[in-house]
Amino acid sequence: MNARIEKLTKSFKINEFQKALIDWFKEEQRDLPWRESKDPYKVWVSEIMLQQTRVDTVIPYFNRFMEKYPTIADLANADEQDLLKVWEGLGYYSRVRNLQTAVKEVHEKYGGIVPDTKEEFGSLKGVGPYTTGAVLSIAYGKPIPAVDGNVMRVMSRIFNIDDDIAKVKTRKLFEALVEEVISHEDPSSFNQGLMELGALVCTPKNPSCLLCPVLEFCTAYHEGTQNDLPVKKKAKKGKTLQYIAVVLEDEDGKIIVRQRSSEGLLASLWEFPNSEVLSSWKNMVEDYEKQLVEELGVEVDVVEPLGVVDHIFSHLTWKIHAFRGEFRGEFVGSDNLKAVPIEEVEDYPFPVPYQKVWKEFKEKRGIGS
Ligand code: ADE
Repeated sequence: MNARIEKLTKSFKINEFQKALIDWFKEEQRDLPWRESKDPYKVWVSEIMLQQTRVDTVIPYFNRFMEKYPTIADLANADEQDLLKVWEGLGYYSRVRNLQTAVKEVHEKYGGIVPDTKEEFGSLKGVGPYTTGAVLSIAYGKPIPAVDGNVMRVMSRIFNIDDDIAKVKTRKLFEALVEEVISHEDPSSFNQGLMELGALVCTPKNPSCLLCPVLEFCTAYHEGTQNDLPVKKKAKKGKTLQYIAVVLEDEDGKIIVRQRSSEGLLASLWEFPNSEVLSSWKNMVEDYEKQLVEELGVEVDVVEPLGVVDHIFSHLTWKIHAFRGEFRGEFVGSDNLKAVPIEEVEDYPFPVPYQKVWKEFKEKRGIGS
């Protein structure tokens, strides 16, 4: 054990802490659909969905996903576009692509049985240390730490640790610390107890310390530092890119949609014709209108604005200046640039910013949703 962990845990009552946390979790845990079984596939899907996404948002997505892909084999054989449609709106689409790649490997290499070792499961695509610990502890009862932002918040307060949680080194410190204090009798309830405590009691702002089952073990509470922890240094703000996008409709009610490249940000999802606004442009609307005529080979009129949609990714922000437009003439499309009937637009998976553009368009056109 390293000296820091030894010092932190020296007079810490590990057994009493485990019992208080686990008893509380068993009593107070929320009914969540992925807690109804210990099926490692279901636990895995839930943990991937829960990365960067709130529990309330995940619940309906999880239920729909399990209805459509109830087993490893169903997901391994799923069509990628259908899969993206089910994930539509959850964001971070590489999560579902990696999940399918990993599930295919489980299907082919492990006969559809999710492997139960850290080495095998942890080497699958998209499976990092957090997912490894969460899935193997919850589904297979392995005493492996599952340290995410919630757990770092709880642990930073219990042990009064003010290291910057944005650093990899700090996450490793917390993993080593959880490894030391995790219950070997019930690692599933222990890890989920820490997650649940972070969600329900040990919240980022105004934690409910007086309701906390492990208050007596909490150094931050005793020192009065709970509101200053955890320490997270701000990452530099990413840059903002300006876009113009046009929802183009013809007299027959067809809408032009375009598929993004199969690589990079929001790969293979659909969008409306758009372009980054270049600093050399003199007039955004006229310049883009000309570009569209060349790209699409039809006559184009940009008719009216639909508003500006902002979308913040982890590393950059999009500002989309959206417009409604009309096109006339013979449109020759391709597999990833099509004119589709207005009723079919929503069959395609769109990222959230373009769903917002579509919603504005429908409102302008007086079409119900
Ligand atoms: N956040 C991450 N994993 C979770 C889980 N299994 N239950 C509730 N919240 C979570």
